[in-house]
Amino acid sequence: SQRGYVIDEMISAKAIAARIEELCREITAEFDGTDKLVVVGLLRGSFVFIADLVRELDLPIEVDFLEASSYGDAMESSREVRILKDLRGAIEGRDVLVVEDIVDTGHTLNHVTHLLQSRDPGKLRSIALLDKPSRREVDFRSDWIGFEIPDEFVVGYGIDYAQRNRNLPFIGKVRFIED
Ligand code: PRP
Ligand code: MN
Ligand code: MG
Repeated sequence: SQRGYVIDEMISAKAIAARIEELCREITAEFDGTDKLVVVGLLRGSFVFIADLVRELDLPIEVDFLEASSYGDAMESSREVRILKDLRGAIEGRDVLVVEDIVDTGHTLNHVTHLLQSRDPGKLRSIALLDKPSRREVDFRSDWIGFEIPDEFVVGYGIDYAQRNRNLPFIGKVRFIED
């Protein structure tokens, strides 16, 4: 795309940190007494969120990653979820928390949750920092959600627009400029 854009702050770094503290109190309680929780980050978008999240969890954990891509460089979901990189470790009998940056149509997290469930884990839960319920195409709801947002194109805190802007410390809204 040749269109220019600016980014307006939507959720500040401070608001994200405060919400993560709240969520981690709930998650820690939910997995109280777990032997070893496997925290699974979905690459690439969750890499910032999972880093902040695990440092607020008062639990024994392992970290693993899985890459599932639906968007690629496009702005629209392809609806076909591909597993580009699978977990390193087995999760059979293990408690698992899947960490995602955003649930949009729901195809990605729905697909990954079913895939991981088929491996007979212990307790399987998911958390998404952002949720756009108005965009949902499959019946899926994450167990924990940081913020529910309207149908805006968002970037930052791990989320990209054509692979850019993942390193912004806040969640921003993309505003296109016609020229
Ligand atoms: C984005 C985002 C979620 C997914 C949400 O990932 O990070 O994983 O799309 O969309 P959905 O609910 O419509 O499936 P993307 O495929 O762009 O890969 P990335 O994480 O590497 O940016
Ligand atoms: Mn993603
Ligand atoms: Mg993307």
